[in-house]
Amino acid sequence: MAESKEAGNTEQSAPQPADESRRGALKVLVTAGSIAYAGALAAVGASFATSTVGGETRERWLRAARLADLPEGEPRRVPMIGDARDAFTVTPAEQLGSVWLLRKGNDVKALSATCPHLGCAIDLAADKKGYSCPCHTSAFSIEGATQSGPSPRGMDLLATRITDGWVEVDFRKYRQGTAEKKESAS
Ligand code: FES
Repeated sequence: MAESKEAGNTEQSAPQPADESRRGALKVLVTAGSIAYAGALAAVGASFATSTVGGETRERWLRAARLADLPEGEPRRVPMIGDARDAFTVTPAEQLGSVWLLRKGNDVKALSATCPHLGCAIDLAADKKGYSCPCHTSAFSIEGATQSGPSPRGMDLLATRITDGWVEVDFRKYRQGTAEKKESAS
């Protein structure tokens, strides 16, 4: 019993120099790890903030289709291929989304195929005179205006231009579930 008490006292005795040294090293490691972790979080935050601020004015022109390949007056869905970026990496040639293109002569209108309600992919309506979302049955006119369903706004119109016979789209993403068309950070 006495031995056991002594052993207990030994465990609670003052730290030896070797223990202090080990504890000191551990503290340094923990502090360094905390600083690195905080730095990583700051990097993500900085990137997110930059995207949000720059997102309103940043142009991101992506080639969509050859003008000559688009039929007159008939919507065509095309994928948007570009570099996918996050806080740490850039992945080239990723599908970032898709758009509906509608050609009238040399004028091409682009509507985002992402539903403003909750982000489902918008299809062409069965009669091809408008669009419909399969998730909650929002319906849109051929110009992208809301006709029925829960979508809080019409389909998002994107800027287009023709360069060397190619239709290019200034591809952006907008917040879902709001009546206001506001660009999202990603
Ligand atoms: S996501 Fe399109 S109607 Fe809900």
